[in-house]
Amino acid sequence: MPIPGRSGPFPGGRTARPDGSGRYAGERIWLGWPPIRGRAAHEEGIPVFSRTADSSDPEQTHSVSDPDPAVRLDGVTKVYGQGAGAVHALRGVSMEFRRGGFTAVMGPSGSGKSTFLHCAAGLDRPTTGQVRLAGQDLAALTPNELTVLRRQRIGFVFQAFNLLPSLTVEQNITLPLRLAGRRADKAWLAEIVERTGLGERVRHLPTQLSGGQQQRVAIARALVTRPEVVFADEPTGALDSTTGTEVLRLLRHVVDGMGQTVIMVTHDPVAASYADQVYFLADGAFAEVLDGPTPERVAERMTLLGRR
Ligand SMILES: Nc1ncnc2c1ncn2[C@@H]1O[C@H](COP(=O)(O)OP(=O)(O)OP(=O)(O)O)[C@@H](O)[C@H]1O
Ligand SMILES: [Mg+2]
Repeated sequence: MPIPGRSGPFPGGRTARPDGSGRYAGERIWLGWPPIRGRAAHEEGIPVFSRTADSSDPEQTHSVSDPDPAVRLDGVTKVYGQGAGAVHALRGVSMEFRRGGFTAVMGPSGSGKSTFLHCAAGLDRPTTGQVRLAGQDLAALTPNELTVLRRQRIGFVFQAFNLLPSLTVEQNITLPLRLAGRRADKAWLAEIVERTGLGERVRHLPTQLSGGQQQRVAIARALVTRPEVVFADEPTGALDSTTGTEVLRLLRHVVDGMGQTVIMVTHDPVAASYADQVYFLADGAFAEVLDGPTPERVAERMTLLGRR
């Protein structure tokens, strides 16, 4: 299927060879599949190999997209403002994210990661292009339908947390359930609270918490409804490495144990190594994909991208 705006493979989709094997020349296989629950492959000493997009490789020009991806963007652009002051935050991004996958999105500051995440989650409308979430074209929904879809199927961890200051930690976490008229699954709520280390803070207000604790409340809130797709904008940005590791294992767990889809923006190569693959953005466009990421390989790609 031809992909608007680019000649390489559709990241996240299968890339078909002319013989239909679904594998292309030079592709290396991640021997660690399926991933170990709640741990990054490199933590287990599993050999991992990388694949980077190379649009000059003729073997990669035939793309077969996933027939039922969790999220798919086709030629998405986003322009803020108008005229001479217009900012082209996204310049024709086409990506897809398979169900039950954990993808990290990386790129230099200002490369469009948050804009991409907001458009993919239906929090913001693209200027042009299409976003499909669970097969649904978001542009075809009324504002109310979009709100219901977001409430029922999406969890979002904002870069700036967005907690409600007048609600306690527990009330903030369970807010999406109350809005959807659903009861809390007490065992799952207890597990999330424990794994985010918030057990002794459930009756506190956000203003009484550190930045890292607020971030953990935002993560717990995004997971409480067990949404099909969890979008997280730098979810470990304010966390120390121990707490960050616990949060990343929790995200890995909702993918491996519950089949949820996680799309996580991060600047941290170690955080990215918990994902199955990393998509890199540069200057509002898709740049490349790295499968079976290790911190070293991710850091290497980031350095090269920064030099472009
Ligand atoms: N509301 C807005 N109005 C105008 N420009 C915006 C707006 N939001 C983002 N931008 C611009 O769009 C571009 C992409 O911003 P975005 O926040 O998506 O980047 P990012 O990759 O998430 O960066 P960071 O790593 O710093 O969070 C930047 O140049 C930014 O200044
Ligand atoms: Mg951002």
